[in-house]
Amino acid sequence: MNAHTPAAETLLDIRGLKKYFHVRKGLLHAVDDVSLTIPRGKTLGLVGESGCGKSTLGRVVIGLIEATAGEIFFNGEDMLKFGDEQRARFRTQAQIVFQDPFSSLNPRMSVHQLIAEPLLINSVCGSRKEVDAKVKELMDTVGLAERLVTSFPHELDGGRRQRIGVARALALNPEFIVLDEPVSALDVCIQAQILNLLGDLRKERGYTYLFISHNLSVVRYVSDEVAVMYLGQVVEKAANTTLFRKPLHPYTQALLSAVPVADPEAKKERIILEGDVPSPIEPAPGCRFAPRCIYRQERCTAENPVLSEREPGHFVSCHFAGALRERR
Ligand SMILES: Nc1ncnc2c1ncn2[C@@H]1O[C@H](COP(=O)(O)OP(=O)(O)OP(=O)(O)O)[C@@H](O)[C@H]1O
Ligand SMILES: [Mg+2]
Repeated sequence: MNAHTPAAETLLDIRGLKKYFHVRKGLLHAVDDVSLTIPRGKTLGLVGESGCGKSTLGRVVIGLIEATAGEIFFNGEDMLKFGDEQRARFRTQAQIVFQDPFSSLNPRMSVHQLIAEPLLINSVCGSRKEVDAKVKELMDTVGLAERLVTSFPHELDGGRRQRIGVARALALNPEFIVLDEPVSALDVCIQAQILNLLGDLRKERGYTYLFISHNLSVVRYVSDEVAVMYLGQVVEKAANTTLFRKPLHPYTQALLSAVPVADPEAKKERIILEGDVPSPIEPAPGCRFAPRCIYRQERCTAENPVLSEREPGHFVSCHFAGALRERR
């Protein structure tokens, strides 16, 4: 086993992670050299446009799909090198909640069966009675009324269905949960209820979250730190308040300029991104954002920028990041 000693409070330490898919037109770089850490008990928000690789990253990190290259240290151990026994243990420690609870839940299973499933697969309860008690406890934890125990997913609204998804993720008492757009399919007021449930659970139980969303307002609400992805790469990462107050990457600046502000007096210049997102298949060398960047210079298409710490805890991947802010 490749043991590694990260900072004491680090639960997840992703290094140089790559996930490429072989597609008809070539090699699709879905996740391309991503390094990120998440301290224990904290929430890292991961934002970016559709197709930038958020879900792929989340799925590789919890072992649902294999990595192409890189290292993922979980509690100091590289999970990509786990043997069968360690992998089985890891599967109980790391869980995922998906965006669409309707398609991720088997429609033929009742609430009881759905929540009991992970308990039965992993043989964590000794008897039927214990399973029933644990299902009841989990339903209570996620705010599902006991009377719904025999209901089926189609009989429930989106919020209740997502509560089942959360209960299933909590069943094995995990340390780390990937939340992949957990509220994107829900009505706004139900979104708030689920976000509050997730926040309360984290406070009470110290869970560590990777919170994936394309919605910046949601990410701002839930995250301690935020990472911005563009075409398979992290282009900026900082503490929540720093990123939203002082974005340094032109892509982050454009994303934030599109978020409505509550203050009618606040004047905000909307940055319209030109052009389409380039293809992630065999991407051209240089900065991937360059074709759409209004500050593009020769160096940008020639030389790949590296994610580097411009200010304490504030990482940016742009040759001109600091200078741009002053010019704006
Ligand atoms: N199994 C696969 N085979 C081939 N390509 C894939 C596969 N899964 C994902 N991709 C591609 O990888 C890239 C990243 O996809 P991913 O689903 O991770 O993006 P995302 O950021 O989660 O997008 P969204 O916001 O729409 O959920 C996309 O170009 C997608 O088409
Ligand atoms: Mg996704």
